[in-house]
Amino acid sequence: MTATHDSPTAAGSGDSATKAFRASRGSASAGPTVSQERVSEVVTDLLAGIHSTIRSKKVTYDEFQAAKQYLIDVGEGGEWPLFLDVFVEHVVEDVAAEAQDGTKGSILGPYYLPGQVRIDTPATLPKRPDEQGTALLFAGQVRDTAGNPLPGAELDIWQADDEGYYSGFAPHLPDGNLRGVVVADAEGKFEIHTIEPAAYQIPTDGPTGALIEAAGWHPWRPAHLHLMVRAPEHRTITTQLYFRGGEWLDSDVASATKSELILDPVDNGDGTHSVTYDFTLEPA
Ligand code: BEZ
Ligand code: FE
Repeated sequence: MTATHDSPTAAGSGDSATKAFRASRGSASAGPTVSQERVSEVVTDLLAGIHSTIRSKKVTYDEFQAAKQYLIDVGEGGEWPLFLDVFVEHVVEDVAAEAQDGTKGSILGPYYLPGQVRIDTPATLPKRPDEQGTALLFAGQVRDTAGNPLPGAELDIWQADDEGYYSGFAPHLPDGNLRGVVVADAEGKFEIHTIEPAAYQIPTDGPTGALIEAAGWHPWRPAHLHLMVRAPEHRTITTQLYFRGGEWLDSDVASATKSELILDPVDNGDGTHSVTYDFTLEPA
């Protein structure tokens, strides 16, 4: 569809993402929580990787100075959350997944905002009166690893709209649009009425986008729903669900797709879609 508003800028969403990240950390950033030994072993290895690339690629002084300028620009643009979530988080998530059971996880990304409206199932996510996009009924059940239903499980869901924009980061969208915490019923079942999101393009007018262009890559993530699924005494799952046949599934710029996380919506014959997906949480 045709946009009837100015596109959000990289600087604007970078700033919001940095603020949201700082708020999520609370007092966690106040003091050292990592041992000297751990800092030394991780940073030594990290630097060794950089040194090895400089040697093997014969990186020049000009390139070194350009890299310094680039890193300064990423910071000044507030784009560290975006940059790290695009290029690094998927590996941290892979490592975490090695010790996890239940539904597969995926990256959190920079656009989670806590404290959204709680809605009992069957739920309709907050949306504009003229919200565009294919109506989607997303239903399922939350169970434990033994198959028992988890009554009152919460599905904290956030997604882009039909133009690929997230509320809280795109100024033309009302706060809380297409975000909510859906409370499942006594059998852990849920029904969420929403719309199918569009594929998401990371902002191309900032330093992260500039790198992608300079390297000849593309800036797209396939369409996805974000979820954090919680139940008392169970490990919270942070994940994303994608759509079968969606563009960019095989070349996600954030490398965060997994075959187990692809939805197969059916057409209800009236232009609306429905899909079911069940979640399995392991004991905490
Ligand atoms: C996202 O899932 O929306 C996202 C992930 C990484 C970087 C930017 C956006
Ligand atoms: Fe996303």
